[in-house]
This record gives sequence, C-alpha cells and structure tokens, in this order.
Amino acid sequence: MTGTRPAPGPHGRLAQGARRVLLDNWTGTSTVPSRTLYPHQWSWDSAFIAIGLRHLMPHRAQRELETLFGAQWGDGRIPHIVFNPAVPRDAYFPGPDFWRSATAGAAAGAPARPETSGIVQPPVHALAALLTHRADPDASVRSGFLDRAYPRLAAWHGYLTRARDLGGHGLVSAVHPWEPGMDNSPCWDAPLARVTPVPPGAFHRADLDHGAAADRPTDLDYGRYVRLATDYRDRGYRDGGHRDGAAPDTGFAVEDPGTNALLIASEHALAEIAMAIGADPGPHRIRAARLTAALVDRLWSAATGLFLCRDVRTDTLVPERSAAGLLPLLLPDLPPAVRRALLATLRGEHFGLGRTVRLVPSYDLLGAAFDPFRYWRGPAWFNVNWLLERGLRLHGETATADALRTAVLESAAASGFAEYVDPYTGRARGTRAFSWTAALALDLALAPESGV
Ligand code: SER
Repeated sequence: MTGTRPAPGPHGRLAQGARRVLLDNWTGTSTVPSRTLYPHQWSWDSAFIAIGLRHLMPHRAQRELETLFGAQWGDGRIPHIVFNPAVPRDAYFPGPDFWRSATAGAAAGAPARPETSGIVQPPVHALAALLTHRADPDASVRSGFLDRAYPRLAAWHGYLTRARDLGGHGLVSAVHPWEPGMDNSPCWDAPLARVTPVPPGAFHRADLDHGAAADRPTDLDYGRYVRLATDYRDRGYRDGGHRDGAAPDTGFAVEDPGTNALLIASEHALAEIAMAIGADPGPHRIRAARLTAALVDRLWSAATGLFLCRDVRTDTLVPERSAAGLLPLLLPDLPPAVRRALLATLRGEHFGLGRTVRLVPSYDLLGAAFDPFRYWRGPAWFNVNWLLERGLRLHGETATADALRTAVLESAAASGFAEYVDPYTGRARGTRAFSWTAALALDLALAPESGV
C-alpha cells in the first residue's frame, strides 16, 4: 500500500499508534530512534525504520536511507551515527566533539559535513532498500532509487569485507561492542575485560539523564567503550584489514554471527537489487555463498547448537549464548543439520520460544549473566524478533512464525512501543515510543505473510 494511512484491519489501532510514533520522530530528513535517548540518526535503526515507513510513505523510507547514505565515508563505511546539527552538541554522549569525524576521519574519507561517529553498525541496509523498493516499485523506478542506492551499498559491503576482515578468513570483525548493535552483550565481557577503562568522571553519560540505570550498561562498561572509541579515533579510524595490510592491534576484535548473517542476507538482497537495475548479480551471490561457508566454518558450534562469537585476538569461540547466534536463520542456504539444530535451540531451554517466553530474549535464559532488564543482557528486542520471524517463515516454520508475529504485535502495542521488554512478561523497559519497534510492528501488521 502506498497511502499515508494504514488501512483499518485487524491491527488498525496498532498501526495508528505506530504511525504516530514514526511521524513524531521524523526530523524532516530522517527519523530519530527516540526523541530523548537517541536524538540523531542511527545506522541500523534507519534501516529497520525504513522497513516500516515504506508502508506509510515509500518516498520517506527512501529519504531515510538516502540521508544515511549521504554520510558515507570515502572508504565506504556507513557511520553508526549521523549527527543532526540542530541538536545541542552535548545532548548525546559521545557526541560530534568526541568523534571529530571531519578531522580525525579525514584520511579515511569522512565528509566535512555532516558530522558522524566513526564506528559502524550491522549492514541491514541492502535488505531495507530492497523492501523499500518493493513497497512501490513503479515510483521507485521513476525516482531512480535503486540506481543511486546500489553503488553506495556495494561500497559499504566492500568496506566491510576488505577493511574489516581482521581474522583473515573472510568474516567481518567488530572493533567496538557497539558495532554489532548489541552493546553490552555478555559475549563482549571476556574480550572487553582486557581493555583498560578511562577513569570514571572523564566523561558524562547523557543516557542516564533519560533512561533508568538498571536498564542501561554499567559505568565500568562505559569506561571501556570510551577507551576503545578514543583509541580508534586517535589512530585515524584506520582498520588495516587482512587484505589492506597489517592490522593494528585494535584491543577488541570480534567476529559476530549477527553482523555477518545480516551482511549475507544483505548480499542476497544486493543480488536482487543488481538484477532490478540490470547489473550483474553474480558477484553478490558468490560473496554470499563464500561468507555463508566462512560463517559455518568459523562460528558454528555443533556442541552448543548455536553460532557463537569468535574473539579474534585469542582465536577462540566465546562460550556465551546470544540471540545474535540465532540470526543466521535468515540465510536460505544453511547446511540442513545446522538449520535443524538452530531451530531446536530457538525452541529449547536457553531461548524458550513457544515454551517459557513471550518473545525471544537477547541472551541465554540460563546464562550466568542473564538479566531480564538490562539492555542486551536478556531483554527481548523487537528487531531481533522481527528478523527471527522472517527466518522462521523462510524455513517453512509457519505456525511458529505466526505465533511470534502475534506476540510481537501484542507486546509492541501493550508496551507503548518500548525499546525492549522483559522476555517473560512483555513489560516495557528502556525508552518508549521507540522508532524501530513501531516500524517493525507496522511491517508485521501490514506486510503479507510471505516475508516480502
Ligand atoms: N547504542 C549505543 C547507545 O546506547 C550507541 O549507539 O548510545
């Protein structure tokens, strides 16, 4: 549908509420994740937001993505935050004066304007661009949306696979815990423990002005986040991936199954985009197949029935179960035994789908670090559940996908479109009127059940 109002239907009220959140959070060129906690543009948020906005205003969904692409660096990276110059410089920490993209990032090709951060987030953008196109293909073709998006997306994937292959086996490494988007996941505890935090008092956390401390990462974790980001900035955001020459010692380098699964899903989407504009899809299909093989080879743990993170500095798998390890369910060509084991894990005691929880938690229900309230250490997030719903549908698990879809819709509406929820009770945590919760609920309410 292409109108600005969702059709009344079984989910009419939810769709109206979601629409209100997305309209309120629109700045004129993009959407803030939250008016209070996250007052700029965030990379993977914008991709998920476009997936919902496409049902209301496809042109606005295009604009959302193109505003983000406009901040792309010369080396191909899409920064995780694009700062809005109209927002006070200290409204968010770390803000533009911390990242200093135009100067510290100059050698890596950062634009003079807009100001941005220097780290990245998971590459879900090609999938978002394809879905945005499909919401109104005629208008998309008329406006040349995919013709403009394709080179941006190809350069973005090129950056990740070239500069971020720190392990030398083809997978993308994160150099900061915020890059896989799951900031304080227990998967980072061991690799992060090697990082010396900056002293408390060296910075002011703006997030605690808007969020409950029990729902947010700890001060000790923040001290380490700031140390890693400072060091990365001070070496000019230089990566030195395997194919770019000697890698600097980054202090933190982790191959995350969520990021890599999203890259592969986006490579499949990029193949579709290439076909739509008359380019060759072959290289994208080849890359998707190579990355899938590397993902299984490097990160699959048969003993755990889950994909795990690999700490590249020690070359060992991190023995923590995170929902990121379930995201390869998005991939069409997993080995059958892996697919079966992954589905069993999703329904087993560690993630509890269809048994003990309403929504899939971000982390192992039985893990020593499980906390149902604290950011990425247990609460259920709507983007993770949207991705899993899509993966279940892809693999023909229709009844489970339908039940998860219903649970997402109910929890999104009942929580006031919360940032995340207690996985057992669905009780709201974090901030409210959160854009991707609204967008993805809208998508599940309005998109056909074919996952298009
Ligand atoms: N998610 C991070 C924050 O909480 C950084 O993007 O600010």
